[in-house]
This record gives sequence, C-alpha cells and structure tokens, in this order.
Amino acid sequence: MKVMVTGATGMLGRDLCEAFLPGNEVLGIARGLKSPGRLGPSVKSEPADITSRSEMFALVERFRPDIVVNSAAIADVDYCERNPDDAFRVNFEGARNVTDAAKSAGAAMVHISTDYVLDGEKDSAYSEDDPTNPLSVYGRSKLEAEKYISSGGGSCVIVRSSWLFGRHGKNFVDFVMDSAGEKKEIRAICEKVGGPTYTFDLSAAIRGLSEKILNAEAAPGIYNISNAGICTRYDFAKDILDCCGLKADVVPITAKEAGGPALRPRRTELDNSKIGKVLGRRLRDYKEAIREYIDKKGERQKW
Ligand SMILES: NC(=O)c1ccc[n+]([C@@H]2O[C@H](COP(=O)([O-])OP(=O)(O)OC[C@H]3O[C@@H](n4cnc5c(N)ncnc54)[C@H](OP(=O)(O)O)[C@@H]3O)[C@@H](O)[C@H]2O)c1
Repeated sequence: MKVMVTGATGMLGRDLCEAFLPGNEVLGIARGLKSPGRLGPSVKSEPADITSRSEMFALVERFRPDIVVNSAAIADVDYCERNPDDAFRVNFEGARNVTDAAKSAGAAMVHISTDYVLDGEKDSAYSEDDPTNPLSVYGRSKLEAEKYISSGGGSCVIVRSSWLFGRHGKNFVDFVMDSAGEKKEIRAICEKVGGPTYTFDLSAAIRGLSEKILNAEAAPGIYNISNAGICTRYDFAKDILDCCGLKADVVPITAKEAGGPALRPRRTELDNSKIGKVLGRRLRDYKEAIREYIDKKGERQKW
C-alpha cells in the first residue's frame, strides 16, 4: 500500500515511517524536509506545510495514498498556551486540511491525538467514549480536530496516546539519563499520573490497526493506544534510573513548582481494551519498553 505520513521528522513521525516501510511505499512530509534522503534511503520525502490546503490536496493528488497518517502537530503544550493562534492553525486547521485531502483521494485517515483532550478527573481508566474536557489550548486544539474528523464519516481513525518517548525526539528518558550522567539532581512532578508510551510500540500498533481498517476488519472511530502501566513523572524518573543502572537524586515537585502556563490533566490512564481486541494483543508494560529503548540507545552509541 501507499502511505503518507505527516510530521515525518518528528519523534513519532520518524518511527511511523519506519514501521510502515516494510512492503509499502512511504512518503513522509514536514516543513523542515528540505534535503531528500533525510528519512533514510527508502522513505520518500517532501517539504510541505499542513496549514496549506492547496499543498495538501496537490500532494495526495500526486501520491495517491491508500492511507494518510497525520502525526504533524505543535506538541509543545506550553508553547500552545502562549500561542493559541498557532496551535489552532496547525493542530486543528492543518488536521482539517489533511483529512479533507485524504478523503478527496479516497484514502483512509489515521489522526494522532492525545490524552490531553481529557480533564484527568476520573479515578479509573478512560475509555474512548468517556466525555472530553481539555484543560489547555493544546488539548482544545486537538479536540477540535477530533470533532471535525469524527463528524465527517469515512474511514477515519483517531488514535489517542500519551507521554511519548522515542529515539527521534527530545524526551523524558534521555533527560533523566543525561541529568544522571552529569550528576545533576532531577526534579520531577509527583502529582500527575499518565501512561508513558514508546513511539516504536505505538507505531507498530498503528500499522496493525491501519491494516485492519483497510481490510474492513476493524471499525473506524477512536482508539486509545498506550503502553501498559501508569505512573507519575517522579516514578517514571526512578524507573528510568533502575533500567539504566545510573544513580541520581530524584526530587518530587508539584506542577506549580515546575511552572509553565498550561494546565495538565491530573490522571489519564487510557483503557486499551478496544485496541487489544482488534490486534489480539496489548502493548507491553512501559518499563519493558524503557529497557528496550535504553538497550537500543546503547547499541547506537557503540557505533
Ligand atoms: N509528545 C507527546 O508526549 C505526545 C503525547 C500524545 C500525543 N502526541 C501527538 O503525537 C503526534 C506526534 O507528536 P511528537 O511528539 O512526535 O511531535 P514532534 O516531535 O514535535 O513532531 C512534530 C512534527 O510535526 C511537524 N510539523 C509541525 N508543524 C507542521 C506544519 N505546519 N506542517 C507540516 N508539518 C508540521 C514537525 O516538522 P516541521 O516543524 O519541520 O514541519 C514534526 O515533524 C502529535 O500529533 C501530538 O499531538 C504527542
């Protein structure tokens, strides 16, 4: 099949391109993709801006994808809070352009969304049908996109995930390892709970789900996909240190002490039973995923 991935230079987008590559033709797009070959020799790439409706329509007209995965976004939650116009332009209007363009080419659409569409006030796991109530500009901009995509019918899937870490972006695992390596104290929020998710695992699950959708073996709609297990950032930091064998002082702090203008949900455990049924498996525990991430990072550094 032919797969178009937006946000292809991002932490998730790079892994998505790699996950879809075996057996498929993959086109990755992002604004910063000026030089060909940046996504590896086998992934096609083009610079493009999802906020340009004409660019999106021209791209799908030329490439004729079977499936479009929209991973492009402004994912910096505090930046979005300070720059709401930018947030809505990319996260909502951009997503709308990609969706409409995908539909015009008869392609299925997978849109990446977030647990930040939820307010985090539920004390148990959130199913896909629970009410949304975003607390931040980022969450509201992502929810507007979800609503637009859900209302349009067609083969559209929304994937909600949380607390991503992966080899192609700045992430909490690297931050903790780097801080420990430099003998720095690690200050980590102890009052918000979420589900860390490895972009490698998420991308493989998104490929699996996409194939099911194209084969009419799964229904369009919203799917939660996160690694198993939940924790605070404080616990997460300690888990990372355990996994890599480094030592550092981890200091629990409140969200207020951490600063930043955007509010974050208190507790967003995602119920993964729906994706579990579709794929016949759930994603592994996040601690196992951290271990693999660290092992692979070590392998890369040897080279
Ligand atoms: N990070 C998390 O913890 C997290 C959690 C849950 C869900 N998500 C969602 O997962 C997705 C991927 O997040 P991520 O952390 O991988 O993001 P990221 O690393 O910041 O990557 C964002 C990507 O989007 C591209 N992009 C931004 N604006 C664009 C535009 N106007 N046109 C085309 N491309 C544009 C960026 O490239 P250029 O700037 O070069 O264009 C980059 O390739 C997002 O939809 C995000 O909302 C993230």
